[in-house]
Amino acid sequence: MAHLAIIGGTGLSTLARFKISRRVKIYTPFGEPSAELVLGDLEGAEMAFLARHGSRHTIAPHQINYRANIWALKELGVRSIVAVAAVGGIGRDMAPAKIVIPEQLIDYTHGRKDTFFEDGLERVTHIDFTWPYTPALREKLLAAAIQAGLHVHDGGVYGCTQGPRLETAAEISRMERDGCHLVGMTAMPEAALARELEMDYACCAVVANWAAGKTNEAISMAEIEATLASGMQEVSLLLQCLSI
Ligand code: HPA
Repeated sequence: MAHLAIIGGTGLSTLARFKISRRVKIYTPFGEPSAELVLGDLEGAEMAFLARHGSRHTIAPHQINYRANIWALKELGVRSIVAVAAVGGIGRDMAPAKIVIPEQLIDYTHGRKDTFFEDGLERVTHIDFTWPYTPALREKLLAAAIQAGLHVHDGGVYGCTQGPRLETAAEISRMERDGCHLVGMTAMPEAALARELEMDYACCAVVANWAAGKTNEAISMAEIEATLASGMQEVSLLLQCLSI
């Protein structure tokens, strides 16, 4: 049984060097996950892999069935989730190609199914979410980066927008004033749902582009994809050094 799962984002629909042993289709009370769960090992370490946007990258961030994804991983016996995510860089240190292990989150999404705790409750439940990323799992990612010889940024605030469009320059300025260093579209409700089911959750973010208005150029998908191609190879190296 795999205790660790990787949720792969844009640029990481498959995991290099991952030896697949089994594919499992899981149905949940919330519907189907984004893809089959893939079980296997990465350089000897057993883990599960789920392609967040579907195996052909066809599910937009606001249409992902986050509840089905997290529920399916729990059902499989997963205890720790490493979420890999492509992001835009807002902070000065967050240049394209940088790998970041963020520490905090601000949620700008709306209308997503964002809790398991709503129907048929015996009691209203409020999870503690002071530290949205599990500190011990963050430490393991940072240790793995050192072992892999990679320089990663420790910390930062991930602002999660609704998408699928990218932001305006004014929205990014506002996010910067709010304290965001990174902008992405998938951390929420993923992180909160993992906490609701008492799973450890941390993020390995790859900066794909400068956020809107941070340069004079428009942001192109071609630029994002090119930066991610090399960034995700480093993420794969990092994951190979992760011991859970
Ligand atoms: N904004 C939001 N999400 C993103 C970006 C961005 O600039 N780049 C990659 N994911």
